[in-house]
Amino acid sequence: MNYSIGLCGMQTMIHCSLVIFFLGGLATMSYYRNSIQEVASHDITVTLTNTVTNKNVDTRVIDHQEGASHNITVTLTNKVTNKNVATRVFDHQEKLRSPPTSLTGACDLFSGRWVYDDTSHYPLYKERECPFLHDSFACQTYGRKDSKYQHWRWQPHGCEFPRFAGKEIIERLKGKRLLFVGDSLNRNQWNSMICILDSLIPGVKTMGGGLNGFLRTFKATDYNISVDFYWDPLLVESNGDNPTNHRTDSRIVGIKAIEKHAKHWVDADILIFNSYNWWRAPVVKLIKSGESLLDDPNQEYEEVDSLHAYEMGLKTWSNWAHTHIDPSKTKLFFMGATATHFSAKEWGGMSNKNCYGETEPVMDDRFWESRTDSKMLSILYSSLNKLKTTRVNIQLINITQLTQCRKDAHPTVFKKQWRPFTNEQKKNPQLASDCSHWCLPGVPDIWNELLLAYILR
Ligand SMILES: *[C@@H]1O[C@H](CO)[C@@H](O)[C@H](O)[C@H]1NC(C)=O
Ligand SMILES: *[C@@H]1O[C@H](CO)[C@@H](O)[C@H](O)[C@H]1NC(C)=O
Ligand SMILES: *[C@@H]1O[C@H](CO)[C@@H](O)[C@H](O)[C@H]1NC(C)=O
Repeated sequence: MNYSIGLCGMQTMIHCSLVIFFLGGLATMSYYRNSIQEVASHDITVTLTNTVTNKNVDTRVIDHQEGASHNITVTLTNKVTNKNVATRVFDHQEKLRSPPTSLTGACDLFSGRWVYDDTSHYPLYKERECPFLHDSFACQTYGRKDSKYQHWRWQPHGCEFPRFAGKEIIERLKGKRLLFVGDSLNRNQWNSMICILDSLIPGVKTMGGGLNGFLRTFKATDYNISVDFYWDPLLVESNGDNPTNHRTDSRIVGIKAIEKHAKHWVDADILIFNSYNWWRAPVVKLIKSGESLLDDPNQEYEEVDSLHAYEMGLKTWSNWAHTHIDPSKTKLFFMGATATHFSAKEWGGMSNKNCYGETEPVMDDRFWESRTDSKMLSILYSSLNKLKTTRVNIQLINITQLTQCRKDAHPTVFKKQWRPFTNEQKKNPQLASDCSHWCLPGVPDIWNELLLAYILR
């Protein structure tokens, strides 16, 4: 099958969905292109001094939201006298102050249901108050009118959802480096984590880039906390690696080559990986030598099915983790696969529709969309289990079920694309919709609360 963009109009809805899905990955292009170009020209420093009389602190920060991809420094000085700022920063710390539930083996936090709750502390932060929120997830900013999707809490079947005081989080993360490694869904989660932490942590916060666009770095300077994202959608080397220009028509993978990327991960204290979506090509071409990708036109390939490739890729990654990660120093997490909602037929909608226009979750907890590939999940779970037996400190954050019902929580067309929507696309939101990433604030905030529960444990 050829998932080329030009064929979209002629293909079935599912094929189009795949194309759009891959385009979602392509959004990275603009993300990094913007960052690279803009970082050079506009560094922003917002210094708020003597803000007692300044009630517009939030607004001033928001004004720079468009600078999400620039280097931003927000400095709040004179904190002691600044009641407005202090209140805002610790606002939801108050709300989070219920005692944490201990994570006993008995309770499966990942199995549960969504409960609508507009009296709870969700959303954890306000879209317009997070200066680091990227355009691809800023749904309200780009025209989404309904906001109910921000008010659902996750209720595990067997216990209460763990909540933490902001202070506790800051104390535990002090001096630490968190590093998210993976694809655009992991970047979605990283962006959520940054907005959560930005709202909790007072003082100077900055955003920058490095390693030729592979790395984005958020820093809370006064606390030495850094939260980074490293683009690497298959974990091993591939033709999808270029953070600004990844070809998507086929997958070419150096299935045993990981060191080029992984050498940048070893000094993190907490590593959060994901890798699933990019393996879902019909066929994956492996470079015969198994080694580093070369632009050698005479390169020889072996074609394998994606399941087999996924297994081999995870094996390379596992071997790396086993040999390079000191379990006493570094915690590893792997994020489970997330659902996509490209076919409304699956939840009883019309067959030519997708998640566009959905404002409510699927109400049946058992809902399972057909593109969530159980065979791939088995491969992931058994790889992680094998790795655990080698004493590597790895924890799966199993968000697969949690995402199944949330057809209401995707950006659809309410985002800034890597290139503006064409008139054709605007006329047909069904085709243009992003039904794989998630609006922020939103569902990834819950993934991060679960992640934090395990980090603080
Ligand atoms: C932006 O921040 C990055 C990382 O801190 C740094 O390497 C880069 O030089 C900064 N850009 C400018 C123009 O200062
Ligand atoms: C941050 O790290 C620097 C250098 O290691 C150290 O001097 C400083 O005390 C640390 N600050 C905090 C708030 O932990
Ligand atoms: C992850 O969650 C799914 C759905 O709740 C469950 O079927 C699966 O067994 C879980 N996987 C692991 C490894 O716990």
